[in-house]
Amino acid sequence: MFYRPLRLLKIISIVLFLIIIIYQLYKISFNLKKYKFIRKEQIISAVSPSSPIPTISINPNEDFQEITETLPPFYVRLPNFSDDEAKSWFYNSSYYKINSKKCPHNSCEKYGVLFNDPKEHLSVKLSFVKNGLYLNDDCGYNYGDDAVRRGFENDNELKTIYDKLFIYTVPDGWSFQHFLDGIGPKLSHSSSYLKKYPDAKVLILKGARFDRSVKEIWSMLGVEESSRIIHHNGNNEIGARLLINPCRTPGIHPRLWHNAREMYWSISNITKSSSESERKNFIYIQRTATNAMNGGRLILNDDLFMNLLKEYCLKKNLNFIQYDHSKDSNHIRYRIELFYNSKYIIGVHSGALSNMNFAQSGTTLIEIMPYRPLKSSLPMTCSMFNPADLKACAGYILYTQSQLLNQTYWILPTAVNNDGNMNVDLNRMKKLLEQI
Ligand SMILES: *[C@@H]1O[C@H](CO)[C@@H](O)[C@H](O)[C@H]1NC(C)=O
Ligand SMILES: *[C@@H]1O[C@H](CO)[C@@H](O)[C@H](O)[C@H]1NC(C)=O
Ligand SMILES: *[C@@H]1O[C@H](CO)[C@@H](O)[C@H](O)[C@H]1NC(C)=O
Ligand SMILES: *[C@@H]1O[C@H](CO)[C@@H](O)[C@H](O)[C@H]1NC(C)=O
Repeated sequence: MFYRPLRLLKIISIVLFLIIIIYQLYKISFNLKKYKFIRKEQIISAVSPSSPIPTISINPNEDFQEITETLPPFYVRLPNFSDDEAKSWFYNSSYYKINSKKCPHNSCEKYGVLFNDPKEHLSVKLSFVKNGLYLNDDCGYNYGDDAVRRGFENDNELKTIYDKLFIYTVPDGWSFQHFLDGIGPKLSHSSSYLKKYPDAKVLILKGARFDRSVKEIWSMLGVEESSRIIHHNGNNEIGARLLINPCRTPGIHPRLWHNAREMYWSISNITKSSSESERKNFIYIQRTATNAMNGGRLILNDDLFMNLLKEYCLKKNLNFIQYDHSKDSNHIRYRIELFYNSKYIIGVHSGALSNMNFAQSGTTLIEIMPYRPLKSSLPMTCSMFNPADLKACAGYILYTQSQLLNQTYWILPTAVNNDGNMNVDLNRMKKLLEQI
């Protein structure tokens, strides 16, 4: 009697085990059906690393064609620090602890961090698949070799088959910030094909919203939402007679970011000033309780902070611009022009700082980086005080972007209160302004 429950448990676990095995076998056989039709490869071009990827004619009879390019390795320098507090804060960050291992000769100050992983940082691929099959794969450098060659055999296998389809299914690509940091680098090497195939549809992930600025950029690229954009909800399998896949691209590489920036400037027809002296905008990207998507990260002494900036601009003959994106109802092309003409951009870490993507090389970016002083947690930085708990951290994305865009970056780490808001130390700020 005593042993019965144990025996029952044994039987139950065996049954469970069998169910799992059968389910896995079922899944494998199901997948085999989908995967068995793997296309033969034909590499049509390896483009020289110094030129942008040219538009090449695609042979409609080939099953699989791929344009590949290997970009050179690149370095990301350490931020500029206005004081020792900022410096030691950064050196304590998990970001530094992870990445400093990648500094040549152990000298991050001299060389910066080297990014040279062939797949993650250097390899750009644009593929064209005949009767291609898309199964909700993540659009990024990890897109598998087999997945990219996947095709369908019979039309009746699928509910939806498009004639021509581009996939840009980057997470949150419907939002301004993640359009720029996720889709932008992929557009940088594939946008010319959007023109070449003006009837091709464009697949992006469906989101809570579709930011107006994103819609306007697509429209400037000749991709109208009404006629070309498909908001994919991630459930169905999708086929295309010609599936165009720009996904296997590094998320970060200076070449891609420079080219994407050129593309934004070009499609918005901004007048490019030739003289450096015309660049006078000092833009404060203001975060307010009403314009932020997430709470917190507000500057509590905002008036005094702004007075300091205004004073500086007066002295240096700069245009002080207080920028609140929620009050900007103009077409995105005006914003691209505004930031093109910026010399300085300052703000608390937030998605709105992504407007730096429209600013020129040599622009100075000052990021006020909020952190919780006694906890290894967000707002924006990962573990500081638990050396064993090393995680990559999204908090440093704007710093990375500034370096990809060849801009000058200053960090001002600032402790937040219990509500996640902060008082900017005006003396530290003053000292920083004296150095830029
Ligand atoms: C850096 O970490 C050390 C302990 O690892 C700590 O004593 C020091 O106060 C930290 N510095 C800053 C600026 O957070
Ligand atoms: C830019 O100029 C081209 C050619 O003149 C025009 O077709 C296009 O609509 C313009 N785009 C914008 C955003 O003004
Ligand atoms: C980087 O920016 C500087 C100006 O700040 C410029 O002289 C240099 O040519 C730029 N480099 C690249 C690769 O764009
Ligand atoms: C730090 O500032 C110097 C001088 O303005 C600049 O040349 C350098 O690129 C900056 N470093 C970073 C990481 O932006």
